[in-house]
Amino acid sequence: MSDVVTMDKIVALSKRRGFVFPTSEIYGGLGSTYDYGPYGVALRRNVKDAWWHAMVIERDDIVGLDSAILQHPRTWEASGHLESFTDPLVDCRACGQRFRADQLEDNQCPQKPSVHPGEGPNCDLTEARQFNLMLETSLGPVRDEGSIVYLRPETAQGIFANFKNVLQTSRRKPPFGIAQIGKSFRNEITTKQFIFRTREFEQMEMEFFVPPPDAEKWFLYWLDARERWYLELGLSEDHLRLRPHDPDELSHYSTGTSDIEYLFPTGWQELEGIANRGDYDLRQHAQYSGEKLEYFDQATGERYVPYVVEPAAGVDRCMLAFLVDAYDEDEQEGEKRTVLRLHPRLAPVKAAILPLVRKDGQPELAHEVHDLLRPLMLTEYDEGGSIGRRYRRQDEIGTPWAVTIDHQSLEDRTVTVRDRDSLAQDRVAIDALPGFLQNRLAGKE
Ligand code: GAP
Repeated sequence: MSDVVTMDKIVALSKRRGFVFPTSEIYGGLGSTYDYGPYGVALRRNVKDAWWHAMVIERDDIVGLDSAILQHPRTWEASGHLESFTDPLVDCRACGQRFRADQLEDNQCPQKPSVHPGEGPNCDLTEARQFNLMLETSLGPVRDEGSIVYLRPETAQGIFANFKNVLQTSRRKPPFGIAQIGKSFRNEITTKQFIFRTREFEQMEMEFFVPPPDAEKWFLYWLDARERWYLELGLSEDHLRLRPHDPDELSHYSTGTSDIEYLFPTGWQELEGIANRGDYDLRQHAQYSGEKLEYFDQATGERYVPYVVEPAAGVDRCMLAFLVDAYDEDEQEGEKRTVLRLHPRLAPVKAAILPLVRKDGQPELAHEVHDLLRPLMLTEYDEGGSIGRRYRRQDEIGTPWAVTIDHQSLEDRTVTVRDRDSLAQDRVAIDALPGFLQNRLAGKE
């Protein structure tokens, strides 16, 4: 992260360049919900692909799942969410606002003078009470007690509920994992920091089922593997740290959790949680459903309930961290440049195709180059404005390479490839361009 980045700059760039828009903006917005625009969608997809690749495609011991958002209400009784998934809430009788009782220091009273809730002359806070974060809806045409269902607050429970199905159909045995990417919903009391904490968000979770004596070993393994994933995708080592939870912070299911924290412009905050969930979830679901959720080892004749180690990350929060870390400003040819130094794998657009002038056959050849690259990676054709302005536009969305078609291109079928970070220009034959860019994308020079 450069020292010039602020959350306001990230929010402004995200809106200006079509990464993130406030939801329902034409109706005045809907508190802290966001829509992802064309570049935002591409960046999120790349984050999810990188996670899926590392967790499923590159491994033999993890398989995928896509479970429903709406699940049987008993799921949430068994998981403990109905009873324990709560935050302490206080109301202010003076201004009518609600705050998280344990985060008053992070909030502002909406009345003047601007102070923390409870500290103003008129503030009148109630006693704290527990507020359940699950969002309710009703299923079917009749709205009554029996039709209430919940939007899942984590993807994990869909994995536990399918433990037996996956075990039987995928011919895996512990240690093995089930990975899932999908939307989750929490009726957060206070949302904050743009897409950092919202009520609708997307998670990337993996439940790794292990023989109980091996749980600690796998917990340490996943701490290391997950931290390396962020580093390999370009997050700066100085901005990442591991923080073990204090015993009073642990979730109701966890016997040990460490967060991977990122140094956001507002301070160190959780990016991903890695928890040792023990056998809590499988035992609870076995008890509430009456199904046996255990593993029978035919080789040893042993029957046991596996322990679970869970790395749980948020897509939106990852995206925010990658944007913050990539944001930079410098000066090029006497002009300020805003540049996103995103890892090429994450960059929404991999290459911009730019004819130097809009005549002399250059646009036609540029379209030919564009057609050559289009099946391989997300590219963008741009012939509008000076070449300098077009470079800046691409720098601002993090495009790692700009391919320029000039008068020499028409003579010898070569193009120049400008590197976003080093600004070096390589002359490359058009025929060799796909291989050249694919090598760069794969990290091979
Ligand atoms: N299954 C475990 C679990 O859900 P969590 O720490 O509550 O653990 C995991 O959530 C990750 O999901 C967090 O580290 C964060 O990245 C993301 N996340 C959680 N609540 C979020 C919210 N309200 N908005 C955006 N992301 C959130």
